[in-house]
Amino acid sequence: MTRDLVVIGAGGFGREVLDVVDAINASTDAAWSVRGVVDDAPSQENLERLAKRGVTYLGGSAEVLDSQPAAYVVGIGSPSVRTKVALSFDAAGWSAATLIHPTVTQGFDVTIGAGSVLCAGVRLTTNIRLGRHVHVNLNSTIGHDTTIEDFVSINPLASISGDCTIESGVLVGVAGIVLNGLRIGADSTVGGSACVVRDVPAETTVKGVPAR
Ligand SMILES: CC(C)(COP(=O)(O)OP(=O)(O)OC[C@H]1O[C@@H](n2cnc3c(N)ncnc32)[C@H](O)[C@@H]1OP(=O)(O)O)[C@@H](O)C(=O)NCCC(=O)NCCS
Repeated sequence: MTRDLVVIGAGGFGREVLDVVDAINASTDAAWSVRGVVDDAPSQENLERLAKRGVTYLGGSAEVLDSQPAAYVVGIGSPSVRTKVALSFDAAGWSAATLIHPTVTQGFDVTIGAGSVLCAGVRLTTNIRLGRHVHVNLNSTIGHDTTIEDFVSINPLASISGDCTIESGVLVGVAGIVLNGLRIGADSTVGGSACVVRDVPAETTVKGVPAR
């Protein structure tokens, strides 16, 4: 069965989401039909990139929200922007799609919330909870008994160890490490290449090794 899908965001991650969709479609019969991409202010360059891959630009979210609802996924890396966009599509009766690249590996007892996107090479081990609209980017790993709450972005090559709690709206930068048993408070940011060695309070940015 083919389902209609709208991708929100013509930027870098939005188009990487299109790659995930292509990979899913190449590996399964339950394929997505991409209706097009929504973006409130796409650059000319990104419109040309969409045209080059034959994907329709549908317009801004206000116009698209008035059209026939379909499945949607938000391809926007910023947790706060993604939250706002997803809530508006949910309120209009659209349903969030979950996209898992075929090269992702999952252990026993993993749950993944609607709207989440798992990119190529992601590794999830066992007893893991991912909330809604979580992005787990290329080649990241998530260890046992970890909870990743809604609207978290985990950038490429990040490593979240076992027994961690990553609260809602957190961004873990590229190659960021969170050591086992730690909690990252809501809406915090872990810098690229940081190594987090103690709990991080909410709405805090930490960077470096050890992260401060
Ligand atoms: C940590 C981060 C959030 C800080 O952002 P910011 O507050 O705008 O930081 P600035 O660029 O103003 O830099 C402030 C200082 O922090 C340093 N710094 C910035 N990022 C750093 C990082 N990841 N690790 C160590 N130091 C960092 C800068 O060198 C600068 O130091 P200085 O004051 O001695 O010159 C950001 O740099 C980051 O790492 N974001 C993650 C981005 C990412 O994952 N990108 C990949 C997308 S796929």
